[in-house]
Amino acid sequence: QSEIYGKGALMGILPSVTTDPRLLEEQARKALGERSFNYVAGGAGEKATMDSNRLAFRQWKLIPRMLRSMDGQDVSVELFGQKYDSPLIMAPVGVQGIFHEDKETGLAQVCEEVGVPYIMSTAATSTIEEVATASGDGKRWYQLYWPQDNDITLSLLKRAKASGFSVLVVTLDTWSLAWRPADLDNAYVPFLKGVGCQVGFSDPVFREKFEKEAGCTIEEDIVGASRAWLGQVAASGPHTWEELAFLWKHWDGPIVLKGIQHVEDAKMALKYGCNGVVVSNHGGRQLDGAIGSLDVLPEIVDAVGDQMTVLFDSGVRTGVDIIKALALGAKAVLVGRPVIYGLGIDGRNGAKQVFKGLLADLWQSMGLAGIRTVAECDRTVIRRVQHAG
Ligand code: FNR
Repeated sequence: QSEIYGKGALMGILPSVTTDPRLLEEQARKALGERSFNYVAGGAGEKATMDSNRLAFRQWKLIPRMLRSMDGQDVSVELFGQKYDSPLIMAPVGVQGIFHEDKETGLAQVCEEVGVPYIMSTAATSTIEEVATASGDGKRWYQLYWPQDNDITLSLLKRAKASGFSVLVVTLDTWSLAWRPADLDNAYVPFLKGVGCQVGFSDPVFREKFEKEAGCTIEEDIVGASRAWLGQVAASGPHTWEELAFLWKHWDGPIVLKGIQHVEDAKMALKYGCNGVVVSNHGGRQLDGAIGSLDVLPEIVDAVGDQMTVLFDSGVRTGVDIIKALALGAKAVLVGRPVIYGLGIDGRNGAKQVFKGLLADLWQSMGLAGIRTVAECDRTVIRRVQHAG
């Protein structure tokens, strides 16, 4: 925090990325081309769920405490038996190469530098092995878009495990891509040219199956191969609870289900042995009209929070938002768009500034609220106020 104030206000050297979350989107709009910007900033339908995500945060207010010592202030958390420097996690975001040439490998490196776990997407523009190398000693989790074909799933799990990814995050809400008007108008074309298919195209099992069926190599029919890969991971049809047994058989680390919104689904996740859930509506990019993610967090925490790790995302923009999610029982939060805006504006440097800003804001706001540790961040610090404003 002193580094940011020092550089900006005191020494007159402004960071290249704004620290105002509302201006950040505007800055990214200018830096990114229209297509890439619309892809990251956009949501499903009329963006009602995106709005609900933010409104949900506004309804909760912190009640600060005074004259408390902040000696030993500490934002570290423990997740799945591992210690993490802060409760901040990089959400899995696909096609990072369309935002900046630093892409996944650059962002994974930044995450290592700032002590934030990097969740790699199945829709990446880098391979699993490239991200692992870039991430070095950093903590990394793998997000699975769950292919229809078990042989391909198995191959991805093996590669992720061999590359040091410790936690498997299975995204459930994207078995079919949502109705996203802005993207239908202008952004899906790159996918058909192989963008975001690097995990698939570098997979020996996918390659062999495609080449056998198509009678040509992936390189000779990029459009066909892209369709085949997207068919596996983004238009695959839903799996079922029973099929989780397959993942358990082939993954020996923690399994977390992402995209949980219904309390009964959280209970099912527990019943099927999962170690955690991410309460998420995909940042409002899937079912438009779905409830704001923070609105369902408390009931899910009440139902399963003492037996599994409840994580949260969708709409987190500030340190105070992180505090609110923690106070309502999340063990850590994932952040998506803000970091990608930073990446788009100034590559690794921009993403790093966004992380540092969020972490400094979290530290500072916890102090002002009189909260010394994440454990102290409970429902006594927060109250729902209906007249949102
Ligand atoms: C996403 N998200 C996402 N989730 C996932 O599990 N796999 C993925 O490949 C992607 N891809 C993706 C691309 C883009 C451009 C965005 C903005 C989001 C969803 C992501 O993990 C997370 O749930 C949301 O981004 C959280 O909401 P905020 O923080 O962006 O409001």
